[in-house]
Amino acid sequence: MIKGFSKLSKSKKIDWIIERYFNGNDDAKLVLQQYWNTNEKLQQLHDEFIENTITNYYLPYGVAPNFLINGINYTIPMVIEESSVVAAASKAAKFWLDRGGFKAEVLSTTKVGQVHFTYSGNSETLFDSFESIKSIIISDAKPITKNMEARGGGILDIQLKDKTVLMANYYQLHCTFETLDAMGANFINSCLEQFAKTLKREVGCSLDGDLNITMSILSNYVPECIVRASVTCKVEDLNEDPNITAEDFATKFVQAVKIAEVEPYRAVTHNKGIMNGIDAVILATGNDFRAIEAGAHAYAAKDGQYSSLTHASVEDGIFKFWIDIPLALGTVGGLTRLHPLVKFSLQLLGNPSAKDLMKVVAVAGLAQNFAALRSLTTTGIQQGHMKMHLMNILNQVEANDSEKSTLLDYFKDKTVSHSAVIQEINKLRN
Ligand code: MEV
Repeated sequence: MIKGFSKLSKSKKIDWIIERYFNGNDDAKLVLQQYWNTNEKLQQLHDEFIENTITNYYLPYGVAPNFLINGINYTIPMVIEESSVVAAASKAAKFWLDRGGFKAEVLSTTKVGQVHFTYSGNSETLFDSFESIKSIIISDAKPITKNMEARGGGILDIQLKDKTVLMANYYQLHCTFETLDAMGANFINSCLEQFAKTLKREVGCSLDGDLNITMSILSNYVPECIVRASVTCKVEDLNEDPNITAEDFATKFVQAVKIAEVEPYRAVTHNKGIMNGIDAVILATGNDFRAIEAGAHAYAAKDGQYSSLTHASVEDGIFKFWIDIPLALGTVGGLTRLHPLVKFSLQLLGNPSAKDLMKVVAVAGLAQNFAALRSLTTTGIQQGHMKMHLMNILNQVEANDSEKSTLLDYFKDKTVSHSAVIQEINKLRN
């Protein structure tokens, strides 16, 4: 146990870690130090994002060009460690560029927050007095909501919900908000904490029962903050693979999506592939990927069974493929003005509104899923995946530039596997 760790200087924190976990070996210290930024201001910015920063953890920042979305051409920034993701996105973007591009529309933008509380008094009396309490709740929150209201957002509604069938004495204020270009977590949580104070005070003044606030917090489940992205083309225009007809490809593709719709084991992997694209853009644009993940998977289970986030159909010779996904995103606030690379990403995307960013992110997810299903239903995933992974294997065995170039060339038309690469590098080295 160490007391006061957060109060130690960065170098003292590192000394303690090296002593305690690395037998005092300074090589471990060098590993950390090599990632420090020589630009002290930038390093300080990163140090201050969180507590106890000892170094920076780099992830690759790539871009996928040629994304035509509602007639606008985007180059999408992606932050991700998985080798094949950016390549797959770029491939899908190019494929759909020649077929009219992606369409995207925001269907709704409502965010949610809740005040959870217990009340021991009569439920009917609570409901009877709620309308008048609600107007006081809203007026007490004015100092927090007035700027957001001036911009066209604010509180949409506050509903009292009786949850006593789930838990004794449990009620909630289920509150909805419009937060415009902000993700809105701070705005919503500040409103909710104020709502809770007013509720407790007003119920205390006018009703008999005991009211206790359990907690006030936004919900990351936002089934009314939905964006739809889609692609469509004639079946005959669909396939470029000489080994399978366009019709057979369309049939297999729709089957693959259907399997993810009806079978949870497959649905989870299918949606994981979608999140490869989504999370990469979320990270690049400084949004909260944990919130997006939690909300997306809850939405995928909204009908009682975990299912696919994408859907596909073939009707009258027309192939359609689309995603509906909840995305509570922000393009102001949070990291957006702080992190230089987040600012860069947003500029690269033309400084989008939150709604425009929702469209770009949904398209990235759809494109990723298209690329994955296209490989899975034709060549299999490993061909492309292992091609991209080849460089990782070569780096693992510390191949030099000439060995890399020889082996990249050698594996151009061969199946990559870990053992095959080791065998070839050993041959080269002997
Ligand atoms: C790998 O990161 C993602 C895939 O497994 C997605 C899928 O199976 O659809 C390829």
